[in-house]
Amino acid sequence: MRAVDIIARKRDGMELASEEISFFIRGYTEGIVTDYQAAAWLMAVYLKGMSERETVDLTLAMAHSGDVLDLSDALPMVVDKHSSGGVGDKTSLIVLPLVAACGVPVAKMSGRGLGFSGGTIDKLESISGYRVQLSEDEFRQQARKIGIVLTSQSANLAPADGKLYALRDVTATVPSLPLIASSIMSKKIAAGAHAIVLDVKVGLGAFMQTIDEAKALARMMVGIGNRVGRRTVALLSDMNQPLGNAVGNALEVIEAVELLHNRGPQDLREHCLAVAGYMLWLARGAKEGAVEGYVKEAAEKLRNGAAYDKFCTMIKAQGGDVRMINDTSLLPKAQMVETLTASRNGYVRQLNALHVGMASVELGAGRSRKDDAIDHAVGVIVHKKVGDTIMEGEPTFTLHANNRGRLEAAKRHLQNTIVYSDQAPLPLPVFYDVILE
Ligand code: URA
Repeated sequence: MRAVDIIARKRDGMELASEEISFFIRGYTEGIVTDYQAAAWLMAVYLKGMSERETVDLTLAMAHSGDVLDLSDALPMVVDKHSSGGVGDKTSLIVLPLVAACGVPVAKMSGRGLGFSGGTIDKLESISGYRVQLSEDEFRQQARKIGIVLTSQSANLAPADGKLYALRDVTATVPSLPLIASSIMSKKIAAGAHAIVLDVKVGLGAFMQTIDEAKALARMMVGIGNRVGRRTVALLSDMNQPLGNAVGNALEVIEAVELLHNRGPQDLREHCLAVAGYMLWLARGAKEGAVEGYVKEAAEKLRNGAAYDKFCTMIKAQGGDVRMINDTSLLPKAQMVETLTASRNGYVRQLNALHVGMASVELGAGRSRKDDAIDHAVGVIVHKKVGDTIMEGEPTFTLHANNRGRLEAAKRHLQNTIVYSDQAPLPLPVFYDVILE
């Protein structure tokens, strides 16, 4: 078999055989297939697409390009979640302790932020001492002992995806349904969860801009998960405006802790309870009509403090300073805090999540390149959401900054972020759809 023939067959719109896909992925992981060949092949896939069978084969080839964790010996049922990425998305910090507090173990490997979208690992690193890298043995032990573990992805998990994703980033081949679906699902399969809830974001601050695109991606990923024996559900959630009010690492930890104290923004609460409800539903056998009951069970864990306690237990187990959770004023703080105000009376018709994400990156909360250092203290607090009334002079955004030049640049990003209207618009839904198969 030769890589050039596989590229040519895909270029001509043919369906690749399973052996061709595994040959290509193995060759690329081992460095036998070159970057320029992989780039040509990615572009061919981008232009010609892939059948469902090819997409499943690609997912499995990437999942098996490195270690595949099997957690069955540690725990009979482990449930995981994955977000396709957004602004203000601190869901994992809340949902994992919620589900673990309900007695279902959660073992998750999360990513860092890239571009305008944040990453759970950067948020957790706002907490002094928190170890994001555990050995495989420590990962298993902690999952077994306390039923919750949240780390960064190990280097040898789906390494083919790591290489291909970096190449896609610079060859304009990221927005391809089979490439996105196989990238996400290969990592989930390699991480060993038995059941997976996919949080597919849609809107101005998401990869998928339309509901139809998001649905197609969700269906593809659910199909792959179910075909490889992982119970999988996808929720289509709104990312036109940021989730909750806080955007930026320590600011988001503070908001997550607020929610774990049964306070905090309503949209974030609704979102987290639904994700937790579906994780419990999958873990407990996915019986028809049972999700509502699990949402209530999760809500009770917010009310009685069990989810908060579980979060503290996890922070402590991974070496983090729990005092920063008990007293969030100890988390990193920015030196400059400036609040912007509304230019007119009316209603908020649009609050562009992408602009808020870019402002936060500008302040230093995110990275433009993979190895950029980040500032955990900075970010943006959003005071109004779509559908709210607003009066001239009322606060719109509060910026937390450590650098005057960056503060001014971030303010420019926020200039046209709110679109006002005279008529009351409908608030945005938290979810658009649930894809079960
Ligand atoms: N997230 C991933 O992990 N991969 C993609 O291709 C897109 C989003």
